[in-house]
Amino acid sequence: MSIKKIYKNQPELFQFSNENLKKTEEEIKKYPKERKASAVIALLYLAQNQNNNWLPLAAIKYVATFLEMPYIKVYEVATFYSMFNLSPVGKYFVQVCTTTPCMIRGAKKITDICKKYISQNQKELSENKLCSWTEVECLGACVNAPMMQINQDYFEDLNISKTEIIIQSLLKDEFPKPGSAKNRKSNAPEKGKTTLMDIKNA
Ligand code: FES
Repeated sequence: MSIKKIYKNQPELFQFSNENLKKTEEEIKKYPKERKASAVIALLYLAQNQNNNWLPLAAIKYVATFLEMPYIKVYEVATFYSMFNLSPVGKYFVQVCTTTPCMIRGAKKITDICKKYISQNQKELSENKLCSWTEVECLGACVNAPMMQINQDYFEDLNISKTEIIIQSLLKDEFPKPGSAKNRKSNAPEKGKTTLMDIKNA
């Protein structure tokens, strides 16, 4: 996405709510007084949660002032980690893993579905403003590839029809049941156990 698009529609001001001010104290207390900059990721995360899951420049500047850090250092952190969204995301934020194991198992088909139903480009809101999507690197569920994360939940063992049903539900403002599309529990083998058969609870 172009820099112009990322930084348009920025709010002028940001400040922590009273509830989050209390949480910042807890976070800063975890570090020695002269090392309060160590709380930067936690504070950016609080700011993002307070602002509908994205971080405007005003919030990055606010956190820099709050922690007495140079703005550029906080900006570097916010732009380095993909967990921070620098432009508005939908109520339902779809993150599709496109690292090798998921790609081999069909991640491209999943991104095509996102393009078709949500928006042609990543990090853009759907027409009804409920959804947005992006590609991400490995989310640590490779055994159940291909997969995507929606808000805080994982959807695994996806195929075209299952993914279409999930995305269409989101666009109707309904949150589908997370987990494996094949009803696997965690990383259980698809055809049942084949090893450690004699060990209880293995
Ligand atoms: S490669 Fe997709 S979850 Fe690891």
